[in-house]
Amino acid sequence: MGLELRIIVIGLLFFIISGASVAITVGVYNVKDYGAAGDGQTDNTKAFVAAWSVACAVQGKATIVIPEGAYLLGPTIFKGPCNGIMVMQVIGQLLASTHLEAYNQYWLHFQYINGLVISGGGRFNGQGASAWPYNQCKKTQDCKPLPMNLVFSFVMNAAIKSISSIDNMFFHIHIFGSRNITFDSIKISAPGDSPNTDGIHIANSANIQVSNSVIGTGDDCISIGPGCTNLTIFRVLCGPGHGISIGSLGKNAGEKDVIGLYVSKCNLTGTTNGLRIKTLQSSPSTLKASHFRFEQIIMNNVYNPIIIDQNYCPSANCPKRYTSLLLLQNPSLVKITDIKYRNIMGTFLSPVAYNLVCSEAAPCEGVELSDINLKYNGNGKQANNASICVHVYGSSNGNVKPDPCI
Ligand SMILES: *[C@@H]1O[C@H](CO)[C@@H](O)[C@H](O)[C@H]1NC(C)=O
Ligand SMILES: *[C@@H]1O[C@H](CO)[C@@H](O)[C@H](O)[C@H]1NC(C)=O
Ligand SMILES: *[C@@H]1O[C@H](CO)[C@@H](O)[C@H](O)[C@H]1NC(C)=O
Ligand SMILES: *[C@@H]1O[C@H](CO)[C@@H](O)[C@H](O)[C@H]1NC(C)=O
Repeated sequence: MGLELRIIVIGLLFFIISGASVAITVGVYNVKDYGAAGDGQTDNTKAFVAAWSVACAVQGKATIVIPEGAYLLGPTIFKGPCNGIMVMQVIGQLLASTHLEAYNQYWLHFQYINGLVISGGGRFNGQGASAWPYNQCKKTQDCKPLPMNLVFSFVMNAAIKSISSIDNMFFHIHIFGSRNITFDSIKISAPGDSPNTDGIHIANSANIQVSNSVIGTGDDCISIGPGCTNLTIFRVLCGPGHGISIGSLGKNAGEKDVIGLYVSKCNLTGTTNGLRIKTLQSSPSTLKASHFRFEQIIMNNVYNPIIIDQNYCPSANCPKRYTSLLLLQNPSLVKITDIKYRNIMGTFLSPVAYNLVCSEAAPCEGVELSDINLKYNGNGKQANNASICVHVYGSSNGNVKPDPCI
């Protein structure tokens, strides 16, 4: 090889190697390089969106790093589709702006993304304490809902792990129209008396898994809306709050079925409900809720441990129908079948352990209570009959305490 050729070859190698090292750093986008300041005061919305836009255009994997610090952000949308997998590594804390007028339903919204990882041990702080007094939704339906902390809509193939969401203004995490998402080692907390601070709400989604997480809020721990299939929840600690809830179903026209729910190895402590299925009276939609498994659940001083309520009427003005003599509620048209409660242990506080009130128009079928050992721990003496069964068919197996009525 001549000298000249050798120089060219070495030059070319250098070019390739340095090019490769540039390509590696190109995959990492630190929000500070886009103008973000972790001082808790600067509005970083533009900087975060700028980092996202650049990363989203990259082929392959793009990692957005949010380093140590407290980053104030107003309502922000992280929108796809992106060209590669998006990784958001949250090491610091994100703080929601307290200017309520700027919000419309969400604080941080991840949308139209296929391939997303959020991790890093950081915190999403909704700073809700100043917003909660403005929540009028408990008193009137004519209210502007406060923003949810994290919304995932039309997100596919995502892994959200090792992050925490605290003091949200409204729901913590809302998943809609999404598939294949796992939430692992998530910590969610808001005071037990904060309004509508549901932990994780899932609707119109499939293959969503929540595991190894701790959720304490002022409302439902995990709630499941219509249109869900194959949801898996395991090793979740709930409390305080309202427990694990399916529904309300049947609220709006055109709602889709809820099929396949697997809840196992969860602890509920001090929650108002344990495992609740609720459907509205006078539902404008006809749908199915089927194939639910609740297994190896521990209840610690849960008020209503097992409850199916097909007469749910939160607003006290559900339409009624007249018969010749009586004013009756319109029964729910949601058909509940194949619901198994197995291996449920612990303590409860209300006089009723199993409150199974199904619809006259669509009785529950295939409800199974197996191997249940719930001890009354309320004030006073345990009721002789701690079981209510209305329009419910099914069976009980093994040792079931208190005595069941199916
Ligand atoms: C969800 O995951 C399954 C199994 O890994 C895969 O076959 C399917 O294509 C994924 N769905 C979407 C919408 O990406
Ligand atoms: C159900 O969801 C789990 C976890 O999200 C997933 O591993 C499994 O493949 C899904 N099953 C089907 C039939 O899609
Ligand atoms: C779940 O509850 C049981 C009974 O109270 C308790 O012994 C156990 O430690 C709890 N699990 C976790 C992970 O806290
Ligand atoms: C008591 O038992 C009967 C039948 O076993 C049941 O129909 C009724 O709802 C029960 N509950 C209460 C609280 O009376």
